[in-house]
Amino acid sequence: MDLGLAGRLVCVVGASKGIGAASARALASEGARVVLMARDASSLNALRDEIATAGGEAMAMQVDALDSASVDQAFSRLEAEYGALDACVISVGAAQGGLMWELSDQVWQEALDLKFMGLVRVLRAIAPRMQARKRGRIVAVVGNNGRQPGARMIPGSAANAACLALVRGLAEELAPSGVSLNALNPGPTRTDRWDRLISNLAAGSNTSREEVEARQLSTMPRGRIAEADEMGKLAAILCSDLVDMMTGSALTADGGATKGLP
Ligand SMILES: NC(=O)c1ccc[n+]([C@@H]2O[C@H](COP(=O)([O-])OP(=O)(O)OC[C@H]3O[C@@H](n4cnc5c(N)ncnc54)[C@H](OP(=O)(O)O)[C@@H]3O)[C@@H](O)[C@H]2O)c1
Repeated sequence: MDLGLAGRLVCVVGASKGIGAASARALASEGARVVLMARDASSLNALRDEIATAGGEAMAMQVDALDSASVDQAFSRLEAEYGALDACVISVGAAQGGLMWELSDQVWQEALDLKFMGLVRVLRAIAPRMQARKRGRIVAVVGNNGRQPGARMIPGSAANAACLALVRGLAEELAPSGVSLNALNPGPTRTDRWDRLISNLAAGSNTSREEVEARQLSTMPRGRIAEADEMGKLAAILCSDLVDMMTGSALTADGGATKGLP
């Protein structure tokens, strides 16, 4: 199926690795012009070159999602240099896991500042522009634990629940203008972040990485965790015109792990 993304200008925030990088590859393979944003310039440049070698088009731009001025400047520069943005995937965030009463204020603040406030900062920069132009697709990569919190992952779950509220609320504001804002809720997905999470949980519970990962797998009806490429392709679909009737929704892709009704 042709997603109709050829020539569209799409930004991926958090594109230097993981699900963001996979989203950028999927979008570029559909012919989109992709602006890659994150902090690590060398990873962004390497991905830009990889996409160009594969026949796609990508541009790299540094941004710090913790800094409102950095986010505002990056999107103003993007528009001035490349034109109006058609779609944006936001895939930043990492929260420390562990036993709730052992987690400091700083752990909570960092989880909320990057994941939730990072999304707030990017939406503040792009949503009014898309609303004024009466077109746009926004995909927030959130996480299934926003709907089904895990005992040892509460800061990330709380940040994700807040992101889902933001997506649902703002989607209503944007809907009359034709802009769609949806969440992609991955379950466990093999990326650097997943590796760090497993290591932290293992260290915090005095067990091996293998035991922690086996425990996680036992909760997955599909019997495996996802690959980043699978999430990237779903993000690309959510950037397309195919989802015009879908806004304020959360697409959960977790191998059946979330138990509630859809
Ligand atoms: N992997 C999973 O199992 C899983 C499951 C559910 C939900 N998710 C969610 O999916 C999203 C992506 O996760 P991932 O596993 O792909 O993580 P990852 O591999 O660690 O990638 C995170 C990306 O965010 C960027 N980033 C981090 N801090 C940033 C900042 N201050 N400003 C700009 N960019 C920043 C990183 O780039 P730089 O370091 O270069 O800035 C990187 O490109 C996260 O929101 C995560 O919570 C992941």
